[in-house]
Amino acid sequence: MLVASNRGPVSYTVGEDGSLDAKRGGGGLVSGLSAIGSDGDALWVCSALSDGDREAVRRGVGEDGVRMLDIPADVHADAYNGIANSVLWFVHHMLYQTPLEPVFDAEFRRQWASYETYNRAFAEALAEEAARGAAVVVQDYHLCLVPGMLRELRPDLRIGHFSHTPWAPPEYFAMLPDDIRAQLVWGMLGADRLGFLTGRWAQAFMSCAGGTDGERIFPLWPSGAPRSIEHTPTGHPPLRTTWIGVHGLGADADFLRKRAHEPDVEERMAALRQEIGEGRRTIVRVDRTELSKNIVRGLLAYRQLLSDHPEWRGRVVHVAFAYPSRQDLAVYRDYTAEVRRLADEINAEYGTPGWKPVVLHVKDDFARSLAAYRLADVALVNPIRDGMNLVAKEVPVVSDAGCALVLSREAGAHAELGEDAITVNPYDVTGTAAALHEALSMRPEERAERSKRLAAAATALPPAQWFVDQLDALRS
Ligand code: G6P
Repeated sequence: MLVASNRGPVSYTVGEDGSLDAKRGGGGLVSGLSAIGSDGDALWVCSALSDGDREAVRRGVGEDGVRMLDIPADVHADAYNGIANSVLWFVHHMLYQTPLEPVFDAEFRRQWASYETYNRAFAEALAEEAARGAAVVVQDYHLCLVPGMLRELRPDLRIGHFSHTPWAPPEYFAMLPDDIRAQLVWGMLGADRLGFLTGRWAQAFMSCAGGTDGERIFPLWPSGAPRSIEHTPTGHPPLRTTWIGVHGLGADADFLRKRAHEPDVEERMAALRQEIGEGRRTIVRVDRTELSKNIVRGLLAYRQLLSDHPEWRGRVVHVAFAYPSRQDLAVYRDYTAEVRRLADEINAEYGTPGWKPVVLHVKDDFARSLAAYRLADVALVNPIRDGMNLVAKEVPVVSDAGCALVLSREAGAHAELGEDAITVNPYDVTGTAAALHEALSMRPEERAERSKRLAAAATALPPAQWFVDQLDALRS
């Protein structure tokens, strides 16, 4: 069995003495795939992402079961920053803002050529490594072309692809140039099986695959029901079927509950309690600083809460952890700066000598995130769009007293948690402020009850089972 993803399970840094230091990679994808660790025959193919990773490849240093591809840095930058994170991420999360974006010009075409080269490097490495009839699971929007390329090289393989993001609705996907849309869809349809986090994203893909001019739209189908697309790619006479499956990745309750009670988390709880102040309620959010997470509108909603409901002033603190992500791109850097600016503005406007309304941290610290989860009275998860959102699932599992969840209707997690969450339209700042007030005002018994049900729904499909289900489906 082989897994392919841009970000791998391990990354390296070069120390001052020239030694290589290995660290576990970050992100939801890596936690979801942790289950393959126990399969001795498995191979994880990923990109070298840093100078340390490239040095490790050069020195032949590596972990068992991991092969890092040293794709030339400029090709990787075009594919990862240019196409994956500036175009595909923006399309699937519907983040473009006219009149400036998007522009598909000669520069885009040049970057697209790198995206093809980068996908081909993966397809070739997988073709080289895979035993006859092996199962290969390709991950995410970085590698949409791999299934098609790999099928040409190795028709004997079982090929799966899993999307950890939403899929764009057909009208939005139609922004992409027609030949690019066709390449993306045909690339994906090279797989035997495509996996999505919710029925909504699977449906969107099927609508986009209905024809490159969008003329055939598949009928709506119930969430969770597997369906398939029959197709005859040009140059591939036999009719093939690609099956579509929905696998809603859940939180890992055992791991989280144990980890959240270790001494380093307790230490951070003590420090956070000091920052928050005695007896105050907490509204907690933890995100990568990234536009789809909608951190700015979350802060605006909190500001409106303080303005509409003066009774909360001095009695609540917004604990916002916004960990910088993809900082090579100006648009992500500017967003991080805007988050900081707005937090400072709210603190200047409403803060008093003994009360800081927003406690913002930007340095990634998993133990501190867990400490905040445990202290959460309210979790704010308001993305513009999100494949799943694991924070919405993790906070109710870990929170000490049970938390109320304010959740965007556009998060994949909403399909599973919507009943016990307070639902918000992520664009509606006034509505989000009202939802925060409702969450803070919830009776403790109701909050604890709801939090219990949220935690049960959140852990229905733990990561190991999520992965095994997909693999079984692909092999069957
Ligand atoms: C999302 C994507 C993953 C990605 C993660 C972190 O969860 O679906 O593929 O690894 O974000 O983003 P990064 O660009 O840092 O890998």
